[in-house]
Amino acid sequence: MWLAGNSIGKEFVVSTFGESHGKIVGVIIDGCPAGLSLAEVDVQAEVDKRIPRHTKIVSERVEHDRVHFQSGVFNGFTTGAPITMVVENIDLDSSDYEDMKDLPRPGHADYTARVKFGGFNDYRGGGRFSGRLTVALVMAGTVAKLLLNQFGVDVFAYSKAIGDVKLDKSLSYEHVRSHRYETAVRCPDKDTAGKMEEAIITARKEGDSLGGVVEIVGANVPVGIGEPLFDSLDADIAKALFALPAVKGVEFGAGFKAATLRGSENNDAFQMFGDTIGTLTNNHGGVLGGISSGMPIVVRIAVKPTPSIAKEQKTVALTTTENVTLKVGGRHDPCIVPKAVPAAEAAVSIILVDHMIRAGVIPKVLKKEQA
Ligand SMILES: Cc1cc2nc3c(=O)[nH]c(=O)nc-3n(C[C@H](O)[C@H](O)[C@H](O)COP(=O)(O)O)c2cc1C
Repeated sequence: MWLAGNSIGKEFVVSTFGESHGKIVGVIIDGCPAGLSLAEVDVQAEVDKRIPRHTKIVSERVEHDRVHFQSGVFNGFTTGAPITMVVENIDLDSSDYEDMKDLPRPGHADYTARVKFGGFNDYRGGGRFSGRLTVALVMAGTVAKLLLNQFGVDVFAYSKAIGDVKLDKSLSYEHVRSHRYETAVRCPDKDTAGKMEEAIITARKEGDSLGGVVEIVGANVPVGIGEPLFDSLDADIAKALFALPAVKGVEFGAGFKAATLRGSENNDAFQMFGDTIGTLTNNHGGVLGGISSGMPIVVRIAVKPTPSIAKEQKTVALTTTENVTLKVGGRHDPCIVPKAVPAAEAAVSIILVDHMIRAGVIPKVLKKEQA
C-alpha cells in the first residue's frame, strides 16, 4: 500500500495516480476478489456518466475518456491480482495556468500545494487537485458497484440542491435510481432540474459559480458492517467523501438538524417488518455506533461553488508578495455538483466493499454462481 495519502481502504485498497494535464489518470485496486465478471465497457459506461453532454453547465474541456485495462482482468474476470485502469488526458490547454502560476486562485489548492510541495507540484489544470482525478475514483467505483450488486447492495446519488434551488418533492428511491442521470444536473425531477440548470447558466453569465448538495443512498446494506471505533462505517464514508475536491460538509440522516431535535423526535423506533428488524424513521441515516443498521445509508455532502470564477478577486503575487487582483480564465465548471454525483457514488461504494470484505460478507474468491 502507498503510504503518502493516495490510497484508501484496508482490504479493497484503491490508489489513484495522475494529474490534470499529465499523460494519464489512473487507479490501482489491490484486494479485489477474484471471479468478478468485468469488462472495459462496464467501466466505460460509468465514466461516461461523469460528463453531462449537450449542455452549457460544464467546462468546455472535452473529456471523452477511453478506459484501458492494464492488469488484473483475464478472460473477462478479475484474477485477484491488482487491477490497473487508466484514461489518457486529451484536449489539454495549459496556457492559462502559465500566466497564473504565481497567483494562487482564492478557494483553490494552488497556495497550499505550492507551500507543501516546495513549488515542484504540477500546477497545470489544478494538477493533482483537479476534479478530473475523480475519473480514477469512478473507475474503481464501477468495480465496487459491480461487487455490491452481486450481494444485492445498490448505491445511487443525485443532486438535491444547487444554489438556492432545492428538490423538495419526496421521490421514491426507485424513481431516483432510474432517472437521476436523465437530466444534465443529475436531479431526478425534471422541473427542479430545469430551474437548477437556469441558475447555473445565470451564475456563469455573471462570471460566478454555484455550489449545492448531493445525497447518496446505500440500499440493502446488511446490518453489522463497520469496524468501530476508528474505522466506523460513517467515519470511513466521510473520509472518502471529504477526499473529493470541493466537499466541505458531510452529514448522515438528520445530520446537523439532529442537533435541534429532542431525543423523542430524533430516535428511530424499532419495528418488525416481516421477519426483519427495522426502524420506522431513518434519522440515523443507516449507521448506529459506526455499524450499519440495515436501514438505507443516507448521506449528504455540501459541495462548494467552483473556486475558479471570471469575477475579479484579490490574491497575492507569490514572487513579489504584492497584493494584486485576478480574473480566472480558462475552462471551468460553473457548478461542480453534477460531476460530483458519480464521484460520490463511487466513494461510498468503495468504502462499502472494503467493509463488506472486512466483515467477511464478500469473500476473496467469488463462487461460480456469484461470478
Ligand atoms: C468533479 C469536479 C470538478 C471540478 N472542477 C473544477 C473547475 O472546473 N474549476 C475549479 O476551480 N475547481 C474545480 N473543482 C474543485 C477544485 O478541484 C477544489 O475546490 C480544489 O481542489 C480545492 O479543494 P477543496 O475545495 O476540497 O478545498 C472541481 C471538483 C470536482 C469534484
